[in-house]
Amino acid sequence: MTGFSPDWLALREPADHAARDPGLVAALSRALPGALQDRAPGDPVRVVDLGCGAGSNLRALAPHLGPAQAWTLVDHDPALLAAARARLAAWAERAEEDRDDLVLHRDGARIAVRFCALDLAADPAAALGERPDLVTAAALFDLASEAWIAALAEAVIRCGAVFYTALTYDGAESWSPPHPADAAIHAAFLAHQAGDKGFGPAAGPGATDALSRAFRAHGYAVATAASPWRLGPGDAALLRALAEGTARAAAETGRVAAAEAEAWEALRQAPETTALIGHRDLLALPDTGPLERG
Ligand SMILES: C[S@@+](CC[C@H](N)C(=O)[O-])C[C@H]1O[C@@H](n2cnc3c(N)ncnc32)[C@H](O)[C@@H]1O
Repeated sequence: MTGFSPDWLALREPADHAARDPGLVAALSRALPGALQDRAPGDPVRVVDLGCGAGSNLRALAPHLGPAQAWTLVDHDPALLAAARARLAAWAERAEEDRDDLVLHRDGARIAVRFCALDLAADPAAALGERPDLVTAAALFDLASEAWIAALAEAVIRCGAVFYTALTYDGAESWSPPHPADAAIHAAFLAHQAGDKGFGPAAGPGATDALSRAFRAHGYAVATAASPWRLGPGDAALLRALAEGTARAAAETGRVAAAEAEAWEALRQAPETTALIGHRDLLALPDTGPLERG
């Protein structure tokens, strides 16, 4: 299992929220009422968040999804599900337990949250049992294989759900100041990205294209947009952690010497360090609506 620490997810959350493409979030917000047409007034919008980590995706999206929401947060790591519960309770103005749910109240919205420990690799459809209106994920699909992505897309399409994902790594990176090992580190990092993260050989930077193909093949309208991190001196802690993770992953491949990776990482401690890390967001709608971007 590939582990993600609650501390790392907390560190990246502000950058993730700032990077999301606001146009796609607005398009998602406009599209959902159409998806709920056959439902009783007041019924919550049903959302499944795959690979939820500590709940960042809910905190980013809930303000755009209306006054009544019912989320299922899915992850295979029980420690992250526990962190999600604690962080969401702290994020809400008021939180209460209601049988299996944690009910959050914030900005006039009632958000019921259920936590589900599940290995998504085993069965992409397993989390979609309750016919969600929206299936979403953040920073997940670059870990998954193309075959798994295709199977997940088919399961979403069978539900007729809207699909939105943010912050899929797209392979674009540039660091400053330059270092002679930049190209070698990046090539090794990309090789590491393609390794098996529990879902088979990972799609890595190809994940957004794989999602686009899978949804378009079944008549969904798909739009994508760039959501890069643009990190600078105000993001020193995130830059340090990112450089450490990048250097470690590159060295693990054996394609760069450990000393070279260490020297590369050491330069990234400099206060003037900046980095651009490419991501893409994607929205897929069952109706062929006017989605023209991407
Ligand atoms: C990069 S983190 C992103 C977490 C969260 N979505 C966010 O944006 O902060 C990837 C998440 O996917 C989860 N994950 C990875 N493989 C999984 C699997 N096979 N089944 C369920 N969750 C998985 C990890 O535990 C982790 O929480």
